[in-house]
Amino acid sequence: MRILTVVGARPNFMKAAPLVHRLRERGHDAPLIHTGQHYDANMSKVFFDDLRMPEPDEYLGVGSGSHAEQTARVMIETEKVFLARKPDVVVVLGDVNSTVACSLTATKLWIPVAHVEAGLRSRDRRMPEEINRIVTDSISDLLFTPSRDGDANLLAEGIDAAKIHFVGNIMIDSLVAHLERAGESDACERVGVEPGKFGVMTLHRPSNVDDPEVLRGILGAVAEVSNTLPIVFPCHPRTVSKLESDPGLVALMKSSSILRVEPLGYLDFLRLVSRSALVVTDSGGLQEETTYLKIPCVTTRENTERPITVDVGTNTIVGTDPGRILAAARAGIERGVGLGTIPELWDGRTADRIVDVLERSGSASG
Ligand code: UD1
Repeated sequence: MRILTVVGARPNFMKAAPLVHRLRERGHDAPLIHTGQHYDANMSKVFFDDLRMPEPDEYLGVGSGSHAEQTARVMIETEKVFLARKPDVVVVLGDVNSTVACSLTATKLWIPVAHVEAGLRSRDRRMPEEINRIVTDSISDLLFTPSRDGDANLLAEGIDAAKIHFVGNIMIDSLVAHLERAGESDACERVGVEPGKFGVMTLHRPSNVDDPEVLRGILGAVAEVSNTLPIVFPCHPRTVSKLESDPGLVALMKSSSILRVEPLGYLDFLRLVSRSALVVTDSGGLQEETTYLKIPCVTTRENTERPITVDVGTNTIVGTDPGRILAAARAGIERGVGLGTIPELWDGRTADRIVDVLERSGSASG
């Protein structure tokens, strides 16, 4: 079969790598297309190297812009690719703008779409990712869910049960495959922290970083945590620009033990997170990785599309109130690592289950 996978932004890469590897191992023609939504070397290329991903067969260079501009550019460029390559299926991953743009383009060309990480819902339509999830799921032909709540959400939206396949979490395939190699990274030494005696923070959601008041509140709370536990802060480009334009924040960062570093590659980041005592984040993927690694996670959002990380994992949702962030961080440090349960089918074999379904659906339609 010709199964074309599209990636665009950082959280796509660790989900696509195991799938593209498995598709090629099992003899499929599996082109990989990179839209170029993320283009800085440390937001993109380092992940291809770390995950030993094949070079993209095409790089579309869409870059940054407003949501409409970025989505439209991905649609215009991927339409040419899909028409030229005539794939049997287009695979899209996650919830970024490239995901929704490709699913729209492919569907209108009558090319079946498979969505990996389907069914997640935050029920917060102010999040661009929530719109991307709803639209992508509503027009996809195969929906691969990471947890049972995903199946329930899709069924509640009237999606045909025959399209839904609970396969587990593909991001955990990458984590399992690379944890040992990550152990060889010297990221802790480079940053200057001792394994087990530091925390990690990531922040990049517009709702957290675009309003200086909100950002000041979050960083103020984390600065206080950093008095007892240094916090490594790999900083997303969006957040860097907000931090540097606010003298109050520059001063706050300087007087704290928050150690700001450039965005890290997959192996360095995995090394740090896997040896940390606490994570503070607004990322989706990191809520799942910390659940797998059993590291306490404090999520600075009002909701999550990944409730299983709260129900059985290590995640606490606290919003942006500084008092709540501080209390949850202290409770997490107190509780320590090693608690919680790894969700069903987060076992490193999700890519194989997806390829099984793709093959079955191919022989059914062929
Ligand atoms: C995107 C995803 C988000 C995901 C995040 C991970 C959407 C709607 N959002 O958000 O779900 O969690 O990626 O990082 O798709 N920039 C650079 N270099 C880059 C990429 C971006 O400097 O390589 C800067 C640009 O100024 C750009 C800004 O970051 O305007 C935001 O990039 P964009 O891709 O629009 O969204 P993210 O915030 O990264």
